[in-house]
This record gives sequence, structure tokens and C-alpha cells, in this order.
Amino acid sequence: MALLEVKNLKVYYPIKGGIMGRTVGYVKAVNDISFEINEGETIGLIGESGCGKTTTGKAILGLVPITSGSIIFNGEDITKYINKNRSSYRKSVQMIFQDVFSSMNPKERILDIIAEPLRNFEKLSKAEERKRVDELLAIVGMTPENALKYPHQFSGGQRQRIGVARALALKPKLIVCDEPVSALDLSVQAQVLNYLKDVQEEFGLSYLFISHDLGVVQHMCQKLKIMHRARFVEIGTSEEIYNNPLHIYTKRLLTAVPDMDPTNRAMNEQQRKEVEKEYESSLGSYYGEDSSVYDLKKINDDHYVAIP
Ligand SMILES: Nc1ncnc2c1ncn2[C@@H]1O[C@H](COP(=O)(O)OP(=O)(O)O)[C@@H](O)[C@H]1O
Ligand SMILES: [Mg+2]
Repeated sequence: MALLEVKNLKVYYPIKGGIMGRTVGYVKAVNDISFEINEGETIGLIGESGCGKTTTGKAILGLVPITSGSIIFNGEDITKYINKNRSSYRKSVQMIFQDVFSSMNPKERILDIIAEPLRNFEKLSKAEERKRVDELLAIVGMTPENALKYPHQFSGGQRQRIGVARALALKPKLIVCDEPVSALDLSVQAQVLNYLKDVQEEFGLSYLFISHDLGVVQHMCQKLKIMHRARFVEIGTSEEIYNNPLHIYTKRLLTAVPDMDPTNRAMNEQQRKEVEKEYESSLGSYYGEDSSVYDLKKINDDHYVAIP
């Protein structure tokens, strides 16, 4: 049984208009996607800005209303209860955002920031709480005296690590990582990703790892969901997607990944140009009416693509 099942999820945001503020239309942010996450697994959710990744993550956390579809956790349909506070589900699923700093109150000490979920869900004495916070800091390689500092005293990479510590406070089963390293320098990215991998192994966590960049997730994910225009254009094992991409959109994302080996640069540039040409000329054969994304067709057990 999968840890989390997302079935036919749709999230439409109402567009309000006129002086009455009536709903005049909808932004279809997520338009019928389905997937599973198993225990200990990392699923990559990849696509350009605006394709619906964050909305998908927020829907799983119960942070945006679900228009239709269902969320099933450990075999139980929890769609109706998803935004109930203090439920065990809300403990089990946490989210780390791209810019943890903006979600931190600048006037609060790291102690208070990390302890906040503990204070909401668990009754701990001050001493117990401090002990837990110190343990959580240690997990992300930080010493106890950091608990008394303020967010502005840390670098971007350190703040993301504090975000990881906070997300771990309630011993979740699943963490939605929404572009957790996108705002960081390359060298710091690797460090934060390594912490994420280490804690995953230590605590048997599952990740939904969101990124606009296929390069970042290359060594993180067992399976990938390539998202475009609120739908999945291609899904499969990482191996299938990297070695045998079939949708033009996936090919385009792949050629955008920088190659660290300078000897490949000319070849890559050539490849990028060819894919770009194919993209321009073949859009019609990859998308339906109104540029809609087709339903997924099975290529093999590990690979599905949205083609007519
Ligand atoms: N609260 C909201 N109200 C209305 N539209 C929204 C809201 N949040 C996101 N959107 C729109 O939904 C679409 C998907 O956004 P989002 O899920 O943030 O994409 P991504 O994370 O892939 O960049 C975009 O068109 C965005 O403008
Ligand atoms: Mg986003």
C-alpha cells in the first residue's frame, strides 16, 4: 500500500470580477493529476514556474481547497478532514518552502521557530522542549547555542537547514520540499540536499521534491512527474526519463540542464538548438486543442507519456 495516494486532483482558483466580486472564471492550477508516494521514496515534481507544483504541494497539506479528487493516506481517504487542525495527518505531512526566511518571524528566536509545531501538537515542559530543539538542530549539523539567535544571523543555507529541522519536529512521514535549494548558490545547494538525503535515510521519510530544474533532482528522486500546464506530460522512473525522454517538453527541460563537463559544451549547445527547433515545429503533435495536455499513455510499466 502506498503511503500517499493522490487521485484525480483538481485545484481551481476562482477569479473574481465586477463590483459584486462574483466568480467570473477559474485558474485551473492543477487539472486532474494522480500519483502515489511509497514509504522512503522520493518523487520529483518538475516543471516551469506557474505549472501548478506549489498548488499540488499545498493541496496535499490541506493549505488550499481541493476542487475535486481525493487524498488517501495509509489507505484512508482523508480528503474531507485534510484541513482539520491538530489531526494526526497534519503531523505526518510537513512542507519546506523555497525561502524559509520569509516564513520565519524575524523577531522570534530559532528556538521559538523550531518549537512552534511542538507547541501546537505536544505538551512539553520548557526543558523537554529545549532538549528536542537541540536534538533537531544537531540533526542538521548546528550547535545548541544557535537556538538563541535570530533568523537574520544565518546564511541562506543555514536557514534552509533550520527549515529542515523545523519540518522534522513532529516526526513526519512525508515532507513536501518545494524548491528547497532554488535560492541557494550551487555549492550550498549540494550541502542542503545532502542533509535532506541523510535525514531521509535516518527517519525513513518520503519526499515530494518540487523543482523547476531537472538537474537539481538528478540524484534525489526514484521517480519523476513532469508537469506542464497543470497536468503531467510524462511520468516514470528517473532512469527512463533521463535516458529515454519522449515528450518534447521533457526533452526541452533536459537540454536546459547544464553539463559540468566543458568538453561536452559544444555538443550540448547543438542538441539544445535541435530540441528547440523540434519544440517550435512539433508543438501541434504534442498538445491538443487549446494547447491542452493529452491523457497519459503507457509506454511500459515504468514510463507513461501524454501523447495522442
Ligand atoms: N492563491 C491563488 N489564487 C489564484 N491563482 C493562483 C493562486 N496561487 C497560484 N495561482 C495560479 O495558479 C497557477 C499555478 O501556480 P503554482 O502552483 O504556484 O505554480 P508553480 O509552483 O509551479 O510555479 C499559476 O497560474 C498561478 O498564477
Ligand atoms: Mg512554486
